[in-house]
This record gives sequence, structure tokens and C-alpha cells, in this order.
Amino acid sequence: MPIPPAGADRATVENELAAARANDADWRHGRTFSLVYYAGEDVLAVIRAAYSTYIHENGLSLDAFPSLRRFESEVIAFCAELYGAATGSLTSGGTESILMAVKAARDHARAHHPEIVAPEILVPVTAHPAFDKAAALLGIGIVHAPVGADLRVDVEALTALVGPNTILIVGTAYTFPHGVVDPIPALAALAASRGILCHVDACLGGFVLAFAREAGGEAVDFDFRVPGVTSMSADLHKYGYAAKGASVVLYRDRALRRHQFFVTTDWPGGIYGSPTMAGTRPGGGIAAAWAVIRHLGREGYVRLSRVVLETSRRLREGIAATPGLLILGDPRHSVFSFTGEGLDIFAVDERMRALGWHLDRLQRPAGVQMIVTPAHEHVVDAFLADLRACTAEVREGGLAAVADGAIYGALTSIPDRALVRDLVLDWIDGLDQP
Ligand SMILES: Cc1ncc(COP(=O)(O)O)c(C=O)c1O
Repeated sequence: MPIPPAGADRATVENELAAARANDADWRHGRTFSLVYYAGEDVLAVIRAAYSTYIHENGLSLDAFPSLRRFESEVIAFCAELYGAATGSLTSGGTESILMAVKAARDHARAHHPEIVAPEILVPVTAHPAFDKAAALLGIGIVHAPVGADLRVDVEALTALVGPNTILIVGTAYTFPHGVVDPIPALAALAASRGILCHVDACLGGFVLAFAREAGGEAVDFDFRVPGVTSMSADLHKYGYAAKGASVVLYRDRALRRHQFFVTTDWPGGIYGSPTMAGTRPGGGIAAAWAVIRHLGREGYVRLSRVVLETSRRLREGIAATPGLLILGDPRHSVFSFTGEGLDIFAVDERMRALGWHLDRLQRPAGVQMIVTPAHEHVVDAFLADLRACTAEVREGGLAAVADGAIYGALTSIPDRALVRDLVLDWIDGLDQP
């Protein structure tokens, strides 16, 4: 496909953009339960203005843009204070934050434990795949620890997996699949007792958990106030309500963060140093992260946390009361998942999709996941009514998923995982085909 030979005026381009979005997920009206964290039109206006003001500024050079330097250092300072960290860095998202924490751990081990030649990180099976990606990219090993019946990591089983090559133990607060918090104090104590680093992945839950007590929810110990926690990730572009492209990776001490940085001194293009993965960094993401924190303040985060905790509780109660549905584990905050008891949950999900609700699918066990945001406050009754109807239809009709739900179900249970991997590679490979 050649690039269009002639250009188009702004109105034409804008019309084409608007038309192209017609079938995209409807996040404004609470029909989508992941991917977008929408906190209302006022917050959207604030981040949009900040982002577009800084659309061309480049966070690669904070000397050229002292305002960005100020925003970035203030965002890090706000987050460090919130979680009790010494310092940190602003990244483009959870995956980059995790990548940086794992790089810091690897290079820390190289400097302080030269006897470890084949370093490994030890993560729960429910930890985000960003850890697998980090291990693959950084050329280190990864060991997965099982979870217990409550879907939190089984500390005893994990302890048995600690070996002489373990450089980092990971816990999640809260997990993407089930919204439960791993036993962070036990993991951090174990790590500290063996002289191992401990990372808490609070990418998803960090900006709710920090305000949970004030918002009338359940407080948990998950940050640097827990002895032994050495690094942490928390995503501003999730429950921080920032524009996409903002997360923080935080450290207990500055010396550990130094291992995250990259410097090359002899490049003809100049002496080059950068704190994180990216070279050029969009100024918009940095400015919008600062702007949303400035706009919401602590009060705003407590208010929004109250909304998501309360909305999530109402949804969980409605689902638990629906015959044939079962909440997985004991999630207490704003993310949870559920499965079918004696019915095909993907068949229910397929019917919900036909009604315009988009939930994420899970495997091992099969289930669907809900990430509850302020956008869902006013859809609880409509959602539960549709879910009850779809569940009853599947239960009473003995129906199973037939279309995409059946394909997904089959993919999750094919024993040959190499085949599934190839199918997914083919699918990614084909995404550029119109
Ligand atoms: C617990 C957890 N960690 C890490 C990530 C990765 O974040 P991102 O998609 O911003 O890279 C996610 C994303 O949902 C997550 O839920």
C-alpha cells in the first residue's frame, strides 16, 4: 500500500479518524473492563490539554526542557512519598518499569554477587508476563512458583524454589488475573533473610491500595513500609488516571537505581546516558502524569478509589448471588474474576459480548476478569441484569461457547503448548494484514 500520493486537509483527516473509530471499544460508557481507566470528562480534559501542550517536547533531554525535568522529578517525589521509596524513574508503562527493576537486579547481582553466573528471578505463576519478557530480553532465568487455593502465591512452595542463583523474588499487589494481593511481608522477609532483592509489582493495584484505608476499603501492607521490599512498580496510566505512557519504578535506595541506568561514553554522536529503556520520551506523557496528580490531589484519588472499591463490591455481590457463577479467590479491591460452576463460562462471555460488554478471558482456571473503574459506577445494574440473563440461558439450555469463546477455550486446553505458541506467533504476524 503506497502512502497517499496527495495529502488531505485537516477536516478530511479528522473525519477519517472519526469514522475509523466506529467499531472501537466503547470505554466512555463503561462497556469495557480493561485497557482504559476513564475517570470522567474533567480528568480527560486536564490530561488532554497537558499532553497536547507537550506534544513535541522530548523527555530525552531534560536540560532542553527544564519544565519536563520539574514535572518528572515531582511525579517521582510524589510517588516516592506515597509508597515510602527513596527514589525512582518515570517510564512508559508497567512493562518498562518491570524491565527496569529486573535490569537493576541483574546488574546489582553482577556487581555484588560475581559468584552467580546464571542469575534467576523467582515469580508467582500469576505475575505479569512482563517478568518473562524481562528475563528473556536480559538473558537471565525465570522460575515460576505455584499459587495456593486462595490464588495468592504459596510461600512455602516458593521458599523451596529459592536457590543459589535467585537474585530477585517478586510479589504482586494486586494480580492481573484475580485481583488478589500476594503475601508481600512474608515474601520480603524471605528475600531479606537470604540477602535477595524483592520487587512488588503494584502496577495494577498501587494507586488504589495507597488510598484504600481512607476510601473505606481494606488496607494491606504492600510497599516500602514492609521491610525487605527493595523495588516496586506502579502505573500512573492505570488507576493513576494519567494518559497512556506513564508508570513509575521505585527503589528503596539510590544505589540500586543506578544499576538501572545505561551509559555509553565513546559514541561519535556524543556521550550518551539514559535512565530507562526509551531513547526519545514523549513529553506529553510526563506532563499529563504531573497534571493529573496536580488536578486530583490526594482527595481526588481517595474519592475515585472509594467509587471503584464500592462499585467492585456491588458487582462481586451480584455475581456471587447468580446461580452458576463463582468468584475466584477472595479479591477485596477493584479487580476480580469469576468462573462457571457446571457451565461453560466462555459461553456466558460470548453472549455478553454480543450484548456489547467486553470482559477479558482467563485460563487455568477458565474465567473472565473485571477491572472496575469509575466508568462502571452507573452500569452495575444493567451489567448484572444482562449477566444473570446470559448465565441462565447457558445454564438452562446446557449451551457451550460456539464461536470465538470455543476457539479460546480450545487454545487454553490443547496440551501441545508449542503449537499454541506458533498459532499466537502467526496471529501477531498477521496483524499488519488489512
Ligand atoms: C500486575 C500488572 N503488572 C504489569 C502490567 C503491565 O503493564 P503495561 O501493560 O502498562 O505494560 C500489568 C498490566 O495490566 C499488570 O496488571
